[in-house]
Amino acid sequence: MEKGSVEVFSPATVANVVCGFDVLGFALDGPFDKMVIRKIAKKGVAIINKDDYNLPTEPAKNVIGGALLALLKEVPEEIGFEVESTKLIKPGSGIGSSAASAAGSVVGANQLLNNRFSKEELIHFAMCGEEVASGSKHADNIAPCIYGGIILIRSSSPLDIISIPAPPLFVTILHPQIEVKTADSRGILKKQILLKDAVTQWGNVAGLVAGFMKNDYELIGRSLVDVIVEPIRSILIPCFDELKNKSLAAGAIGGGISGSGPSVFMLSKNEATAKDVEKAMIAVYQKSGVDFHTHVTTISNQGVRIK
Ligand code: HSE
Repeated sequence: MEKGSVEVFSPATVANVVCGFDVLGFALDGPFDKMVIRKIAKKGVAIINKDDYNLPTEPAKNVIGGALLALLKEVPEEIGFEVESTKLIKPGSGIGSSAASAAGSVVGANQLLNNRFSKEELIHFAMCGEEVASGSKHADNIAPCIYGGIILIRSSSPLDIISIPAPPLFVTILHPQIEVKTADSRGILKKQILLKDAVTQWGNVAGLVAGFMKNDYELIGRSLVDVIVEPIRSILIPCFDELKNKSLAAGAIGGGISGSGPSVFMLSKNEATAKDVEKAMIAVYQKSGVDFHTHVTTISNQGVRIK
């Protein structure tokens, strides 16, 4: 890389992890967005799109712009950034496309500023980018994208981020080629929930975190239950119930909607099972008439990488 520039690889992430709406997420070992970020001698952000998604280049309307403008507010020098963005994570896929842009851009910019900001400060800046995409400042894609691994956001204001250790886990993703905008799939959720559903949900969130920390695959599997968000959002995903049932029959521990959808993820103990789950998912979707992509990957302990 030329001096004053960095090449950034920013991974896809799975937010919510079924029962942990807005509080749990993990980083994937791929796919990645790529960015080249250069320091420029003028305050502001210039965005050059190197893909076919036609995302806005006006900084205030772009996730990268939103994140970097928030960072630049805390930089007294007369500098800015030019970003060449190649998105390999399709926008609206449910695997953290906007978070990859937001997190990758601030981590790369921070490197060019000799790492003057902490990871928590970077999360704050990246959340301003996430807000451009979805109208909400959730951190459950951004935090794992920056930290890697499985992350609990115990609180987002003030930020309280906890890394959760876990046994090896393989991830099968099916991405139906339909776009679900996070703002829309948040808009359809109920604003109030029943106490009995809340009790079920927090039992499952606690069980899931305990299962990860105790390397207890059975506990992880029986905690991957969402009685609040999945019943509403799954209506947006063709063949969701069949996809889940056939994946469990093929050996998956459990899974559900990835982030706000439409992608669906399943966890497995080993790669061979994750590939069997992929075959089962493909068989369901081949009948559905909806185009799709699949990935078999792992949870990655590494977040954004810089070259
Ligand atoms: N927690 C967020 C949601 C993740 O489910 O709306 C999507 O960005």
